[in-house]
Amino acid sequence: MAKAKLKPNEWGALTVDHPLTAAEIESKAQEILGKMTLDDKISQMGGDLPYFPTVIQMFFAYNTRPYPAGANKRLDLPAIRFSDGPRGIVMKDATTFPVTAARGATWDVALEERIGEVMGIEGRALGANLVAAVCINLLRHPAWGRAQETYGEDPYHLGELGAALVRGLQHHVMAGLKHFACNTIEDTRMKVDVKISERTLREFYLPHFKRCVDEGAASVMTAYNQVNGAYCSENVHLVQEILKDEWGFEGFVMSDFVMGLHDAKKGALAGLDLEMPITQHYGKSLKKLVQQGEVPLALIDEAVLRILKQKMRFAQVGQPGHYSLEILADPEHRALARQAAVESIVLLKNELPMEQRAFPEQKRDLASIFSFSRSGHVEYNLRVSDAQRFGAYANRNLAEPVLPLSPYKIKRLAVIGKLATQINLGDKGSSMTRPAAVVNPLQGLVAIAEDHFEIVFHDGLSPSEASDIARHSDAALVFVGFTDKDEGENMFTRGGDRQRLTLMDSDIALILTIASTNPRTVVVIMGSGVVIMDKWLDYIPAVLLAWYPGMEGGHAIADIVFGKANPSGKLPVVFPKSESQLPPFDNHSTKVEYGYYHGYRLLNRKGQEPAFPFGFGLSYTSYTYENLRIQESDLPAVGKLHASVQVANTGLRPGEEVVQLYVGYPGQEIERPLKELKGFKRVHIEPGEIETVNFEIPIQNLAYYDENAHCWAIESGVYALYVGGSSADKDLLTQKFRVLV
Ligand code: BGC
Repeated sequence: MAKAKLKPNEWGALTVDHPLTAAEIESKAQEILGKMTLDDKISQMGGDLPYFPTVIQMFFAYNTRPYPAGANKRLDLPAIRFSDGPRGIVMKDATTFPVTAARGATWDVALEERIGEVMGIEGRALGANLVAAVCINLLRHPAWGRAQETYGEDPYHLGELGAALVRGLQHHVMAGLKHFACNTIEDTRMKVDVKISERTLREFYLPHFKRCVDEGAASVMTAYNQVNGAYCSENVHLVQEILKDEWGFEGFVMSDFVMGLHDAKKGALAGLDLEMPITQHYGKSLKKLVQQGEVPLALIDEAVLRILKQKMRFAQVGQPGHYSLEILADPEHRALARQAAVESIVLLKNELPMEQRAFPEQKRDLASIFSFSRSGHVEYNLRVSDAQRFGAYANRNLAEPVLPLSPYKIKRLAVIGKLATQINLGDKGSSMTRPAAVVNPLQGLVAIAEDHFEIVFHDGLSPSEASDIARHSDAALVFVGFTDKDEGENMFTRGGDRQRLTLMDSDIALILTIASTNPRTVVVIMGSGVVIMDKWLDYIPAVLLAWYPGMEGGHAIADIVFGKANPSGKLPVVFPKSESQLPPFDNHSTKVEYGYYHGYRLLNRKGQEPAFPFGFGLSYTSYTYENLRIQESDLPAVGKLHASVQVANTGLRPGEEVVQLYVGYPGQEIERPLKELKGFKRVHIEPGEIETVNFEIPIQNLAYYDENAHCWAIESGVYALYVGGSSADKDLLTQKFRVLV
């Protein structure tokens, strides 16, 4: 067995040979605390690495090893050893999964838990004992540069997937939740002050953190930004009052890296337990503050106890001595990455090949769109009525949607766009991973093609050249979208917030050029998620959203394109028709305000149709929903709503459907969103089979936050239940129930 680089289980004095009860952990932690000097205590509260050369090393070797905090030789105490996620352990050779946003589209909590397990195992093998992979910031606006690192825009959905990741990770390592809270703008993240009402904060920006705290997460990282006038690491209301006092969080709170803490006294008084990854403000200054009586010793003791107790708790988990480097991205882990990528791909459109439509009109529209394009050097090809194109398809059965392609029917496939051959895993900031091998889309497609058909690749830089290839092919896959240059964590020259929600002009021109020569053009989008497609969607029969699909992404895309797998991903964020449908996104000002509505709730509120609804995703089979039943329709506030629905697979392929449950508040005096996600289940259904799907929804989950009374409240009256395959009204069955308070 290959040895892990750092000894994975140096728990020192905390090593135990039997599981300790909570009371035993408490008394042992107190005993250790009793032996500590003030210096010992304070050194538990800061990263162990010196400022120099660490900050310099971070420029060229960031995250390549765990960051230690709180090692104590005299007392034989192990360090916390921090490593990052969230698309996989960031150190060399670990498995790269699809980004979190993609995994949000799986709606698969069991899968997410298994991914957490693998990250935990690989983290341990690489010497970490804390993995900050649970990024659950609510996606308020899709232009956020780190949109790819979170599951989506809905707090319930975020909470369930985040909690699953926590469960999986914590079989092996401490899980770190981040970034607490309201961190959803990248370019100004170090200083922006988010003004937000208590109700909005409680109902949308915090519930998923509470869900993961209830799941037992060991640590919470504060965000860089300010909330209502105080930096998150120094925010008494967020950290002390809500997280610790109200929610009863028992783990420790750490700062985000290097610039996360500004003032030792404010941090300590707010309940920040650990400054990471370098002791800059705590250390000597904190000691002085304690000696001068400005920070009570009791607060220091509490922080140290929190840290010690989590170390003791995790000294007992996992399989010490069994984490070897051989398991990094082993076949089983790669298979899981492939499954996650398959489940995450969203089929947004799948219609008949284009030649079955009204061409004259399209030709006119195409021409006008081309003339809008700003990129002058692109060569356009407007020969929509190309005779060759019609000829090539004259003998085909055109009554079927474009996807899936059949490897036995096509002879030649055009694969176009440079992203088809690029390693495009997403952000290259703190979430950057370092896998040993990545399957890009072209490699995945070639693996399926074998001897069945020919693949011709063109990078698309000359659309007219590419269109010549497309014209002589039976279908064309066009890869477009984004890379770490366009979006991600703001690291020096890369990443940052997105500058546009549409595709690049060159991508749009390429799509239209290829579509004008091949009626079976499939657009495959890579990126963090939302793309406004108004300029080209009508001219394309099939669109797949492939996200940043991880190290097995190429295989997954090929599996979906050729129908080896049936698409089942559903959007975890609404796709607007235009940016004007979204809340304002201001990444310049240092003061911004977050209102009550965002995402699908905002579009519903304004009565606007999205391009693709939240929860939407097509399949190669079809489902019908029937018999939505409620067991008891009058319920007390402490009760539970029991509902069931029958879902039939009415198509020809087995499939996995994400059954979604929303609640609306038609009979309420208090203003509420029109409907909100309150439950979901992913079910496998064979063709011709009917599955009965049951839900149990605690009425407490339907509460709103009463700002005047400073508590959660439930109104009496009529509520609406909606169940179906997306959040769009047309996809939902409805029932009413009453709550009697
Ligand atoms: C990021 C965190 C990350 C930390 C450590 C920060 O820049 O905001 O998400 O966990 O670095 O890599």
